[in-house]
Amino acid sequence: MKDKKSILITGGAGFIGSHVVRLFVNNYPEYQIFNLDKLTYAGNLENLTDVENKPNYTFLKADINDETQISTLFIKYKFEAVIHLAAESHVDRSIEDPLAFVKTNVIGTMNLLNAFKNLWKNNFNNKLFYHISTDEVYGTLGKTGLFTEKTSYDPNSPYSASKASSDHFVRAYGETYGLPYVISNCSNNYGQNQFPEKLIPLFINNIINNKPLPVYGDGNYTRDWLYVKDHAIAIDLVFHEGKKSETYNIGGFNEWKNIDLVHLLCQQMDDKLNRLKGTSEKLITFVKDRPGHDLRYAIDASKIHTELGWKPSVTFQEGLALTIDWYLENDIWLNHVTSGAYQEYYQKQYH
Ligand code: NAD
Ligand code: TYD
Repeated sequence: MKDKKSILITGGAGFIGSHVVRLFVNNYPEYQIFNLDKLTYAGNLENLTDVENKPNYTFLKADINDETQISTLFIKYKFEAVIHLAAESHVDRSIEDPLAFVKTNVIGTMNLLNAFKNLWKNNFNNKLFYHISTDEVYGTLGKTGLFTEKTSYDPNSPYSASKASSDHFVRAYGETYGLPYVISNCSNNYGQNQFPEKLIPLFINNIINNKPLPVYGDGNYTRDWLYVKDHAIAIDLVFHEGKKSETYNIGGFNEWKNIDLVHLLCQQMDDKLNRLKGTSEKLITFVKDRPGHDLRYAIDASKIHTELGWKPSVTFQEGLALTIDWYLENDIWLNHVTSGAYQEYYQKQYH
């Protein structure tokens, strides 16, 4: 084990993290992959049953907010590279409890940066701190334009403000201490294993259960959607080939107004469930808007395309069909994550 490169992935039991862990464990037997996760409501080891017994995989249950625990683990396992995904990730929850987002997204990131710096400060050669971030740090776009890597930060929600802050700290550690880093800012992900609090899995689950589909405001908000496995491939590329101290924007070249996306989802669900055309659309219900709701996000992903040759591999229609199939086949997973605390969250958020 000692001659293997030791790689820490934080938040690996979550949605995107589990796809990244799987890709790295399967593709890089020469790495020892440590998945560090607190297993909050969003973390679920059922996402990783297919790799849990691989010899190059180790799970560490830990909290990035716990400074002592984190520095002890860095000293013990000598992580040479970090891919940092652990975060509180849902905008609506950040409106309810902003401080939880500061604690995990800002202080938690600081604890990782400090532990990494303290371990390697005398020799940063061949080390890397890769911070995974979001396009939401750039704020909102009007009807036109795209976010580039040079767009100024202008976050509007407690979630995006906490992610922006963590991005700034990563860069500051690079400038101040010479810590080797790379950052990527990605658009909205969708796909297998996403917790059903985000738009697409929430609506899939509600359609299955004939429950209303709560569209915020008039539904004329635009997001740029990327299939999660394409994000994991982009992370692999940036990790191995990205230039140090740089940012890469990752996006789907795939903008959808929420209401148009919901119509497409309803049509695909009717097909898959053998329901009469138009059945799911009847569930659409316009509800009170989210405060501070960003109108539009859209990424200019030309830098990662030109420099690293990355582009999405599936169309939205294909990715959405794969996603729906997965949720329909994994009713046990869906039942586990929607029992208990989820019911309380749902009542509070939507009633
Ligand atoms: P997620 O909420 O599904 O998973 C987050 C994971 O982090 C969970 O496994 C959770 O248990 C773990 N975690 C939370 N707090 C922790 C703590 N204090 N200590 C250790 N582990 C903790 O999130 P996701 O959607 O997979 O997002 C992963 C990362 O990607 C986040 O940093 C997010 O900001 C970023 N991102 C997400 C999207 C998206 O569309 N989901 C888009 C761009 C960027
Ligand atoms: P979400 O999946 O929460 O991602 P983000 O806020 O990070 O973009 O929401 C995607 C879009 O869908 C966003 O414009 C808010 C909207 N939305 C609804 O209309 N209803 C809902 O119940 C949810 C969760 C989101």
